[in-house]
Amino acid sequence: MESKGRPQRPALPSSRGRFVYPDSMRLSSRLPPGFDPNALSAALARLRAAGRPVLDLTGSNPTRCGFAYPEAEIRAALSAPEVLTYDPDSRGAQTAREAIAAHHGHGLRAEELLLTASTSEGYGLLFKLLGDPGDEVLVPSPSYPLFDWLARLEGLRARPVPSYFHDRWHLDLGALEAAVGPRTRAVVVVNPNNPTGHFLSKPEWHGLTDLCARHGLALLVDEVFVDYGLEAAEDHLPTALADAQPACPVFLLSGLSKVAALPQLKLGWIAVRGPQAATNLEALAFLADQYLSVSSPVQAAVPALLALAPGIRAQVLERLRANLATLDAGLAAHPRLSRLPVEGGWSVLLRRPAVDGDEACALRLLEAASVLVHPGSFFDLPGDGHLVLSLLTPDPLFRDGLGRIFPLL
Ligand SMILES: Cc1ncc(COP(=O)(O)O)c(C=O)c1O
Repeated sequence: MESKGRPQRPALPSSRGRFVYPDSMRLSSRLPPGFDPNALSAALARLRAAGRPVLDLTGSNPTRCGFAYPEAEIRAALSAPEVLTYDPDSRGAQTAREAIAAHHGHGLRAEELLLTASTSEGYGLLFKLLGDPGDEVLVPSPSYPLFDWLARLEGLRARPVPSYFHDRWHLDLGALEAAVGPRTRAVVVVNPNNPTGHFLSKPEWHGLTDLCARHGLALLVDEVFVDYGLEAAEDHLPTALADAQPACPVFLLSGLSKVAALPQLKLGWIAVRGPQAATNLEALAFLADQYLSVSSPVQAAVPALLALAPGIRAQVLERLRANLATLDAGLAAHPRLSRLPVEGGWSVLLRRPAVDGDEACALRLLEAASVLVHPGSFFDLPGDGHLVLSLLTPDPLFRDGLGRIFPLL
C-alpha cells in the first residue's frame, strides 16, 4: 500500500490513550490513537535499516515498475502556455472535462464531471456531501482499506459487508439490504475491486441501484481499474456509465493514477448521474470551491495525457498478463497453492494452506526469504490462507519472488 504521509510533530500518549502534545493540546478523535507502524511495516523497516535487500511483491506505484513512459511528451504536455495562468473553475477546466468525458464515452458529458486532486480527495468531498457526523456508508468487503480512514476523517463510519466467493466473487445483496440502517447514506463499491478483481455483474448492478433507490442511498462506484480487465466474466458490467439513467444517484470516481499510470500528477474526477444529478453537482462544486485543489498545469495537460494513456496502459496490461502466466506456470508445480481468478485490476490473491495466520505468514516470508507480500487480512479477506501480490511487479522480480516464497508455503 502506498504511504499517505505521516504527521511530523512529536506527540505523547495521553492517559486516555489519545495523543496529546506536551502543551496538552488534544487532537481530534477522528485520528487514530497512535501512529505506530504495523508489525509487517516495522519488520520491513528493520530489514532495510540493516541493509538487507527486500524483494517487494506488493508495489503498486507504476512509476517505479520499469514502464517506458513517453517522457518528452509528458513534459511537453505539462509546459503548455496555460500553465502560467490561473483561471479557476470549481468544477475543473472545461477542456480537461471534455477530454475526460471523451475518454469514458458512454455519452458522458463534460457537464457531468467535477475534477479533484485525487480519487481519495473525491471520496472526501463525497463523504462531506452525503453524510453528517455519525452517519455510515456500507462497503462490500474485502476492499480497498483506505475507505475506513477516508470515512472516519469526515466523521463517518465505513461499515464492511462481506461479499462471498463461489467460483467468483459475489456481492451479498441480502446482507447489504439487512445492513441498511437509519444512519446509512451510501454504498461504496470498487469496480473491478481492489484486491479481489471482482467486476460487478449486470444483475449485481441492477440489484445495487434498486437497493439504493429504495432506501434513498447514493451509490459510489470507484472505477480506477476499469480499463484493466483480465479474466472478466461474460455478464460483467463494463462500466457503471453504461447505465445512462441509474435508479439512484451515482457518483463514479476515477483518475490519472490508474487511467494513465501517472499518480504523481494528482488528478482525479467524479462523474455524477442519476436522480438530482444537477443539485449534487452544484453542491460538489460548492465544496470543491472551498479548496480549488487541482493544479492548473495538470488540468491544461489532461487532453495530451489522455491521448498518451492508451500506450501506457498497454504496457501495464502486458505486464499484468505476463505475471499471471508466470504465476500459473509456478502454481502448476505447486498443487498445494492456487490463485483466485483476476477479473480485473493490478492484484492477485494467492491461496495457500492456512498453517499460520496471514500476517504471521507474511512476516515469515519477509524474514526467511526477504520477500514482501501483503496478508489477505490487510484487505479484510475472511479467515486465513490468502496473500495479495501486485501483478505490476517487474517480470524478473516477480518470477524470482515466487521462486523464493513457493517452497515456504
Ligand atoms: C480502488 C482505489 N481507489 C482509489 C485509489 C487512489 O487513487 P488516487 O491516487 O487517485 O487517490 C486507489 C489506489 O491504489 C485504489 O486502489
